Amino acid sequence: MRVKTPFYHYDMELLENTLQALNNAIPSPNFKVHYAIKANAEKRVLELIQKYGFGADCVSGNEVQTAIDTGFNPNEVVLAGVGKSDDELITAISNNIHSINCESIEELEVINEIAGNLNKTADISFRINPNVDAKTHAKITTGLSENKFGIPISEVGRAVEEINKMQHLHLKGIHFHIGSQILSMDPFVKLCKQVNTLLEDLEASGVELEHINVGGGLGIDYLNPEENPIPDFEGYFKTFHQHLKVRDGQTVHFELGRSVVGQCGSLISKVLYIKKGATKNFAIIDAGMTELIRPALYDSYHKIENITADSALGIDNYSVVGPICESSDVFGELEMPITKRGDYLCIKSAGAYGQVLSSNYNLRDKAATVYSDEMSLDECLDQQNAELA
Ligand code: LLP
Repeated sequence: MRVKTPFYHYDMELLENTLQALNNAIPSPNFKVHYAIKANAEKRVLELIQKYGFGADCVSGNEVQTAIDTGFNPNEVVLAGVGKSDDELITAISNNIHSINCESIEELEVINEIAGNLNKTADISFRINPNVDAKTHAKITTGLSENKFGIPISEVGRAVEEINKMQHLHLKGIHFHIGSQILSMDPFVKLCKQVNTLLEDLEASGVELEHINVGGGLGIDYLNPEENPIPDFEGYFKTFHQHLKVRDGQTVHFELGRSVVGQCGSLISKVLYIKKGATKNFAIIDAGMTELIRPALYDSYHKIENITADSALGIDNYSVVGPICESSDVFGELEMPITKRGDYLCIKSAGAYGQVLSSNYNLRDKAATVYSDEMSLDECLDQQNAELA
């Protein structure tokens, strides 16, 4: 296999260790994890996660189809999204997925009609907006009233009245997702309290639920990926185990994305030029926001390391930038060993919301995918050097 920068390199051993840690941390057979495919949908990543027996959390018809084609059990596939198209709903209903997480009363009507046309009963849950502040970046907060997601708590009573009139829907559960990259457990505790109150209210009006889906959101350590490669799954599940008042027979579902795949992926890029600007040094690399848009979109931090520098040469400050014709195409400002054309940089913690968010803006090629058990990072670099020699 011949690799060309920029490429994504996946540490399959770390992914496997993460999946094992996740499995070991699950405190009860009633806790079910659905991997959020949106975080990373590379083939072998999905295959390994499926092998561990997790379900899938999807946000499009294509994700549902990909999950099923990969071997995820349709009965462990869930679908959310504020704007599901009729075709996407047909895919979900015809495959008898575990639950369509419905985000508005109008959507209930549409699902009821489509299910009727297909001669089916669709299993659904209400995705509810709990108005809980996830205390994360505003652009990845989803559970506040001002966000477009979910049915407002104040409308849940009306949603129950409406669903009682619909013949082709079966209400199985309630669903929440307050946001992403959440490192403090406080927002999750607040969510549990909201859910407990809502469950009591629903029971008082005669609604019995099979499951509670609390979404995803557990964050990862972008600052110290080497020290903390695996998130604290135990602490996360314990929070829900302690604070959620689950009824007998009810299952609790989680939709984890970033925490499962975030640390196993790196973006590897080559330095094209070092330019002395008027105020700073630019290290211009061959990866851009087209391969990893998170810094440009959310000002997010990714640790960057020059993996081929000669550290004896000293250090300097660099603004690491991509080649794209956009001023926001910046990966970070940092101190690195003296860096020169031809050095390789590793941009870490890029396994989640990295490759899936890439584009071919400027008509760029798609970055390749390299799995560590097919080619280690050292082997990739040796190959590059051999080609130069
Ligand atoms: N469930 C639902 C309904 C979601 O919308 C999401 C993520 C998840 C689960 C998974 O959340 P996680 O466990 O990965 O936090 N592109 C942004 C993140 C967007 C998250 C979208 N929804 C980023 O790069 O930070």
